[in-house]
Amino acid sequence: MPAQIIDGKAVAARMTAEVATNAAAFQHSTGIVPHLAAVLVGDDPASAVYVRNKQRACEKAGLKSSLHRLPIDTTEAQLLDLVEDLNADSTVHGILVQLPLPKHIREQVILDAVIANKDVDCFHPHNVGLLVQGRPRFLPCTPAGCQRLLAEYNISTAGAHAVVIGRSEIVGKPMAMLLVQRGAVADATVTICHSRTKDLAAIVRQADIVIAAIGKARFVTADMIKPGAVVIDVGINRDGDKLVGDVDFDAVSQVASAITPVPGGVGPMTIATLLRNTLTAAQLSAG
Ligand code: GUN
Repeated sequence: MPAQIIDGKAVAARMTAEVATNAAAFQHSTGIVPHLAAVLVGDDPASAVYVRNKQRACEKAGLKSSLHRLPIDTTEAQLLDLVEDLNADSTVHGILVQLPLPKHIREQVILDAVIANKDVDCFHPHNVGLLVQGRPRFLPCTPAGCQRLLAEYNISTAGAHAVVIGRSEIVGKPMAMLLVQRGAVADATVTICHSRTKDLAAIVRQADIVIAAIGKARFVTADMIKPGAVVIDVGINRDGDKLVGDVDFDAVSQVASAITPVPGGVGPMTIATLLRNTLTAAQLSAG
């Protein structure tokens, strides 16, 4: 039987509606409209699309968004100045610096400069530390979006073997941290595989849950999937004019019990979590 398709678009729409309701109640009681400031440096077309989608989602949820577009030759010092201004601006609650940044700017320096209470990406070392300790201030957007999909589809994680493919700071590492915590939609036995893992296919074949976040088109093939496993595809890769994930969807969906499509799977969930974090940031600012 082909796999159940996990509809991230539908779940994200519900989550956005929840944020809208909660943001309206927050605004009613405090007069504060949660405000996300996005920073986009250079003219990478994919990044411009992602940022536009994030802004549109803010509008849908009744949040304010502003965009700070800087030219590709912006210096690290100029970008730091902007981050400092946004840190100091009490009308801005969340700051998102879209990655990747141009090569001449050190990402770590910029991300570390975003004040932790406005770090809606959950990239700041303080927020990563809180996450590791199981007392998060913000949830990392893409991993928390994946976790919510598992919850919505009643996929049992306690004691399950979850294999995360990819060790990025944005997805792989925080995804593993969420799934290994004690609690609901967690309590998993987690393995992280990456580009240097020996016999990766044999490890992935042991997984009850596969999270593919390695950034290689159709990397995960049907022979790597245990029959009945759940497959969450975080990848967004271009194949001509087509967007494809890290999973060979057509073949894997014949083996898995449930699978996310690309597009329409994890992508919208990342944005919905960002909205929720922006509301959380505004609530933090209000004490
Ligand atoms: N570029 C790709 N994904 C992300 C993300 O989740 N946050 C930011 N800031 N940039 C990204």
